[in-house]
Amino acid sequence: MAERTIRLNGKQVSSPYRSVGTGEGQASEQLLYWLRERHGQHGPRFGCGVSQCGACTVLVDGSPVRSCTRQLHTVPDHAEVRTLDGLRAHPLQRAFVEVQAGQCAFCVNGMVMGVLGWLETRIARGNRAVPSDDEIKDFLSGALPESDDNYICRCGTHVRIVRAVSLAAKEMLR
Ligand code: FES
Ligand code: FES
Repeated sequence: MAERTIRLNGKQVSSPYRSVGTGEGQASEQLLYWLRERHGQHGPRFGCGVSQCGACTVLVDGSPVRSCTRQLHTVPDHAEVRTLDGLRAHPLQRAFVEVQAGQCAFCVNGMVMGVLGWLETRIARGNRAVPSDDEIKDFLSGALPESDDNYICRCGTHVRIVRAVSLAAKEMLR
């Protein structure tokens, strides 16, 4: 069996993964299952399984990635992978609780991890403006030039999610 070593929430971990074929014909276990089943990460969720909803989002080297379809052999050895399980009272988590942005909360992993990657990248590039509600909506609907991934809340709590993201961004930019 093939093996992958990554830094998961700041700690080095290694474990095998299922893989068949080689070169362009290679196919392997999805990152989502590898993280959940071999590394006990329960933040990333299985929603649609086809890269359409965002529930499975994790950060790979700082960028939001749909782990339900990302095959492990395409994740570089020693990649920095972050999951919701690694956050502790992050401003985004606090804001989602404060405005009660989740109903069933199934989407919250994707909302938090996707927005985290987006905001951290903006800040790292020197953009210290709090995003407007329209920019947040554009990010969540995949309408920004830098991200065409959309994030779906099936319960329809989008208005509160936008409020939570705005609150958290203000805190992160303080
Ligand atoms: S479960 Fe991966 S995008 Fe929906
Ligand atoms: S709160 Fe239920 S899917 Fe978003």
